Amino acid sequence: MTNIIDGNRIAAQIRAEVFREVETLKSKGITPGLTVVIVGENPGSVVYVKNKEKDAKEVGFKSEVIRIPQDTTQEYLLKVIDQLNKDETVHGLLIQLPLPKHIDELKVIEAINPQKDVDGFHPVNVGKVVIGDKRALVSCTPAGVIALLEHENLEIAGKEVVIVGRSNIVGKPLVPLFLQKNATVTVCHSKSQDLRSITKRADILVVAIGKSRFITADYVKPGAVVIDVGINRLDGKLTGDVDFLEAATVASKITPVPGGVGPMTRAMLLKNTIQAAKLQNEVI
Ligand code: GUN
Repeated sequence: MTNIIDGNRIAAQIRAEVFREVETLKSKGITPGLTVVIVGENPGSVVYVKNKEKDAKEVGFKSEVIRIPQDTTQEYLLKVIDQLNKDETVHGLLIQLPLPKHIDELKVIEAINPQKDVDGFHPVNVGKVVIGDKRALVSCTPAGVIALLEHENLEIAGKEVVIVGRSNIVGKPLVPLFLQKNATVTVCHSKSQDLRSITKRADILVVAIGKSRFITADYVKPGAVVIDVGINRLDGKLTGDVDFLEAATVASKITPVPGGVGPMTRAMLLKNTIQAAKLQNEVI
């Protein structure tokens, strides 16, 4: 018996479900389309975008990547977004971040049609998540965290969830998602005092702080479920925010890095594109 949560296995199940949904939508004359826009050639972004294109093609989407030079203007990028908003074959539209410094990221995100916002970053979707609107497009990593727990049949209702990290992309959206599932939720961050005493209360501990192997065994309550959202590079190796070997001796279940939350984030983007295609065709 292993206590490792296999994100690759669960993500593969989700991709298989998406593949079947694509077949159903195609039989109704709808081919889900995902367009990714990348500005410049940030090496990390180039890899992420390549993966997104590959995933989209594998499940049968119409997949397109638009590459724009680093020195483009904000005005030009907004024009591209406007055209894609109007293109009925594009159901999901994602602008890869980070953008060059001379471009206002929030302005760009706000220009995306919220029904095509498969990243779930638009304030309309963020607000819908807060009020528990089922038609919200939920940001992929937090959605992936919840999906992991649900696929493992791990109880969320009534549990004490502690989230370490308060980013707009992970920490903050996890709060309404866990509340919706009737958990008690605490968020900690770099200014929290006596972090260890807080994380030790957690039945479910989610860590998203971007600090390699920061959470050691002494931060974890025996029997807790530990979800590591971190992706760091340490001596050429991918590491999480949790010291896996240590925490695994204390946790009842734990996600590895790589192979935990990462593949789930990729799978949730595909699920969001299906959701977007349905929203735009009033299938839901
Ligand atoms: N850059 C790193 N992660 C992400 C993501 O999830 N979405 C976008 N748009 N850019 C990213």
